[in-house]
Amino acid sequence: MRIGILSRTARSYSARRLREAGTARKHRVRIYDTLRFSIAVERQWPELYYRHRRLPALDAVVPRIGASITFFGLAVVRQFEQMGVYTANESIPIARARDKLRAMQLLSRHDIGVPSTVFVRDRQEVLPAIERVGGPPVIIKVLEGTQGVGVILADTEKVAEAIVQTLQSARQNVLIQKFVKESKGQDIRAIVVGDRVVAAMRRKAVGDEFRSNVHRGASASPVTLEPEYEQVAIRAAQVIGLRIAGVDILESNEGPQVLEVNSSPGLEAIEAVTGADVAGAIIEDVEHQVLFPEVDLRQRLRLTGGYGVAEFRVHKMPELEGHALRDTTLAEQNVHVLMITRKKIVIHNPTGDHIIRRGDVLLCYGDLHVLRSLVPQRKPRRPRAPQARAPRRPKR
Ligand SMILES: Nc1ncnc2c1ncn2[C@@H]1O[C@H](COP(=O)(O)OP(=O)(O)O)[C@@H](O)[C@H]1O
Ligand SMILES: [Mg+2]
Repeated sequence: MRIGILSRTARSYSARRLREAGTARKHRVRIYDTLRFSIAVERQWPELYYRHRRLPALDAVVPRIGASITFFGLAVVRQFEQMGVYTANESIPIARARDKLRAMQLLSRHDIGVPSTVFVRDRQEVLPAIERVGGPPVIIKVLEGTQGVGVILADTEKVAEAIVQTLQSARQNVLIQKFVKESKGQDIRAIVVGDRVVAAMRRKAVGDEFRSNVHRGASASPVTLEPEYEQVAIRAAQVIGLRIAGVDILESNEGPQVLEVNSSPGLEAIEAVTGADVAGAIIEDVEHQVLFPEVDLRQRLRLTGGYGVAEFRVHKMPELEGHALRDTTLAEQNVHVLMITRKKIVIHNPTGDHIIRRGDVLLCYGDLHVLRSLVPQRKPRRPRAPQARAPRRPKR
């Protein structure tokens, strides 16, 4: 295969190791400086030029997009996607991961532990937000910070308020987060490649520093993760949509809490500390996945019109509950059930014999008119007016 590594610096440890690992596996690997591409947008023929020359056809790229080049870097990755080149991490997940708030919103929705976090804009909301996350000391965090820069511990309400105001006046978006004291300046960095954790380390901040980033001088040691932590790391990467991720997890009294999911995790510390061949694992994953470049299913469906995917939970649906899939109205109306999720267990491509149970979550594909009639009407989650919940009374 021809593999391109996208990196600002060819000499960086991570880029070099990826090239080494690729070459060792008999691939032709070249490191490209992400900022030296030109993106040519033309009807039908999206192209990339590198240092004035048209880029030769590549089979895959491994993007390493640092925070300072997010905008251009993402545009380059997007262009590779348009050209049908497999990218080890896709542009949308990279963008999701880069924004800490966006990532937290997604993780919390998928029931992954995160420290309580509030995002505010208005000055008047700052104090209530601090209270909501448990009062001082609190963490204030810039949405797009990395390497510990932009993560501040504020001891008092006054200091917290002043920091938020200062950052906001410098046009920074900030979030206010519960300070997880019990983690004692330590966290876990788990490297996920594909659907597994290939290496993990515990990082410990130096002195009275609370940030355990290696760039802040933290020391690191290898750890074997408890299954709960391993699962959280894998799920977090999957929820964001990254195949390659460095997941930062705090060990809180309430169990694992994910701080962030990095799309271009550094390889130097993790390989040195654990002895794991992370670069090799990444190249191996690319080999397995290269036949599956990005497909935006919703977009494809929008283009063809009329058909779509819908997901709903089976609840009080006598026409479905207790019946084999093939005997339900779904089959009759040509709705394909792609996946059933039952208590966190996933049944892919269920056969007609599968019995539908209450609580099952069905992912369906079919005619949108039909789906509309099947999917239960949305009810407000927390009804405001008491009568919204009251059972219907028999007429007098
Ligand atoms: N809510 C928190 N409670 C305790 N420590 C935290 C919290 N948030 C961050 N930290 C510490 O600060 C470090 C950096 O935070 P993180 O959110 O990962 O930002 P960055 O992108 O700068 O690495 C973490 O590795 C952790 O040690
Ligand atoms: Mg971090």
